[in-house]
Amino acid sequence: MAENPLSDARIEDDAFAELRSANLARWPTGAEVDMAEAAAYLKALPRHKNLAYVTREAVAKGRCMTQPRGGFGTFQMHKDLLVTLDREGLADVVPTTTDSYTRNERFAEAQKGSDESEERGRSMLNGFPVVNAGVGKVRELTAAVEKPIIALTGTSFPKLTGEICYAGGFTGYLGSGIAYTTSYTKETSVAEGIRNYQYLDRLVADYQDMGVELHRRQPGFLTGTNIPPCVAVAIGVLDAILAAKQGVKQYGLELGQCLHLIQDAVAIDVCGDLTQQYLRERGFDDVFTTVTSLHWMGAWPTDRAQSFGLMVYGGFAAAVGGAVSVTTKSVAEAMGIPTPAENAEGLRAARMGVYLARTVKLNGLPEYEREREVLVAESRAIIDKVLEAGDGDAAVGTMRALEAGLLDVPWSPNRECKSAIMPARDVDGYIRMVDTGALPLPAEIKTYHRQRLEATASETGQAYGPDLAIDSVYELSEDIGKLMPSLAAE
Ligand code: 5AD
Repeated sequence: MAENPLSDARIEDDAFAELRSANLARWPTGAEVDMAEAAAYLKALPRHKNLAYVTREAVAKGRCMTQPRGGFGTFQMHKDLLVTLDREGLADVVPTTTDSYTRNERFAEAQKGSDESEERGRSMLNGFPVVNAGVGKVRELTAAVEKPIIALTGTSFPKLTGEICYAGGFTGYLGSGIAYTTSYTKETSVAEGIRNYQYLDRLVADYQDMGVELHRRQPGFLTGTNIPPCVAVAIGVLDAILAAKQGVKQYGLELGQCLHLIQDAVAIDVCGDLTQQYLRERGFDDVFTTVTSLHWMGAWPTDRAQSFGLMVYGGFAAAVGGAVSVTTKSVAEAMGIPTPAENAEGLRAARMGVYLARTVKLNGLPEYEREREVLVAESRAIIDKVLEAGDGDAAVGTMRALEAGLLDVPWSPNRECKSAIMPARDVDGYIRMVDTGALPLPAEIKTYHRQRLEATASETGQAYGPDLAIDSVYELSEDIGKLMPSLAAE
């Protein structure tokens, strides 16, 4: 079948049926997916295991949920992890992170890693190989915990993992075409990533038509460096439009924390608002959207005490900003994969932060309102330009805008990204840009970024330039004694 030109249009029924049968034939466990049977199974799940239902409940109750990441290479270890996160971590949502082979659809290698892990009784993979495990095993995991499970697959290739995970009772799936392809791949075209997620979103729409609401989620964290909120928000809104066009009715957006309380709260607020505005302008007035805030996605300190500082802050900032959930990290972040106990500890630390936030809100403070205005103007300028470049089509516009640098991601490994933007932390702790590349920002906003970082350079005695950006990448992993020496030492 000839491929249609890239567009944001809904995939036609016949074309989708063909795509599905080809997709499910790529690995033996694909044959286990029977959509009518899966829809009946999903409908019969208790509603507290459905992430779409639980997310709506959290919003109705004004709750900020906690969710970790996590995956191991043996079935037993992975199941035990989920139970620990559920019971000891009090996770509101439990995860299944897939291994790198699965993320890259190298299922034969994942099988080898899985077999070796099972033989040795220890994890030889950096996540759980859902496709090799198949629908039956995934359903055993779903049965093992009293919480909804979200698939975390860090991939531009979600078609088979998505089929298996949803049919297996994981009611949420994290990933999107623009965000993951620009963050995690070098040679894969963003157009291909978009097409692959259009498939997944179309699948979710079909489940919806069969009476099963599922949760889709966009990963806003991008390249694990300092991401200016306007870039994360713009890409989130574009990914949300692409999902809505396929028929998705519940879509979460994520945002990595910048570690400035006002900037983080403003970003959550603006992201939620703009997503709804752009969807409604396009006639999508029944898409339920939420925002999740992520524990710092950059380089972490090795010190346990410093790590706890970031974990508590993360829960606090998410709740103050009004996020529906916070995705957590642990003391092991700088070292590797956390033990189940460490992972559960990270959840409780973040939960303590959420608890302490109570009803604290920053809206109305002059500094909050100023930053809000700036972020709305920046994000709108980018999104409008992208849509204009595509003559209204979000997929076409994304490709053209990336090529021109009008849409850009700092430090992206992907060849299609200019990566001309240089973010840096200013003297007040806000993420600004030393270089705004070709982003179509209003002139006064570019000046604002420059002024804030010039003030930073003069205060720290550094030259204004790329070093400001590079120092900011490592800042948070530095020893606290260096970041903030005692007064006596000054
Ligand atoms: N277990 C726990 N956390 C994981 N992450 C990735 N793989 C795993 C795993 N197997 C988390 C790390 C990483 C983030 C993107 O996901 O915290 O920084």
